Amino acid sequence: MAKVYRRPKLYPKQTAAFFEPLDAQGNPARYSWIEGSTKSGKTVSCMAWLVEQAMLKGKAGRQFWWVAPVSGTAKIAFGRIKRGLKGKKIVNHTDMTIAIGKGAVLRFKSAEKPDNLYGEDVWACVMDEASRMRQEAFYAVRSTLTATRGPVRIIGNVKGRKSWFFLGCRKAEGGEPNHSYHKITALDAVNAGVFPMEELDDAKAALPEAVFNELYFCIASDDGGNPFGLKYISTLKAVAVYDI
Ligand SMILES: Nc1ncnc2c1ncn2[C@@H]1O[C@H](COP(=O)(O)OP(=O)(O)OP(=O)(O)O)[C@@H](O)[C@H]1O
Ligand SMILES: [Mg+2]
Repeated sequence: MAKVYRRPKLYPKQTAAFFEPLDAQGNPARYSWIEGSTKSGKTVSCMAWLVEQAMLKGKAGRQFWWVAPVSGTAKIAFGRIKRGLKGKKIVNHTDMTIAIGKGAVLRFKSAEKPDNLYGEDVWACVMDEASRMRQEAFYAVRSTLTATRGPVRIIGNVKGRKSWFFLGCRKAEGGEPNHSYHKITALDAVNAGVFPMEELDDAKAALPEAVFNELYFCIASDDGGNPFGLKYISTLKAVAVYDI
């Protein structure tokens, strides 16, 4: 039989977060919530996980979803997985689907219109860039996993403190049974050798501190809106009062 897939070599934090998530009680978790630095290998890990899910559980017609904030982002994952799968596959560019193995269907969807996500039975799902999606997308995805009891990986950058993704992470971190929480920072990726330290230094110099902390260290900004943070604003006010 043709070799169709080889799992990329993942570093231990990736394996724990994406392939072997445990809840606070030490039981395998159906939901894994991952706050990750940009370029820490979130997408690559989820690609491997979803393909393996499709191979393990895939029967003709069973659906395995990749959900992204907009169709352009879903298309990038579609292209990456399509190129990564070397063996027999049936690709439909219009529907953004790839059928593999015994007919399991990997489907790449946009979360822009959450109502369009209802209706299917889904056997496993990735929500990529979850902090950039509406909460209704999570409700819809959750409904598609009901009949199958399918697992889900919910991944993204930190973006403020108000999003459903941020709150879901806090709930998982707080010990919700069946939910697992993971944080992967840029330093984890640097230590694993998949992200260059120079690039991290450059980003630190180029970006406002609050943006850098969110994107590379998964530290939420004070208000989620002002890139300079509340501390910076309070300094400005102090200066203004002094000037008057
Ligand atoms: N375990 C690994 N071994 C080798 N390369 C890796 C590994 N993990 C990630 N990479 C590489 O790091 C780069 C970034 O990976 P990926 O796109 O998955 O990151 P991301 O966290 O999804 O980034 P983004 O912020 O763009 O969403 C890719 O070139 C990928 O191949
Ligand atoms: Mg990504």
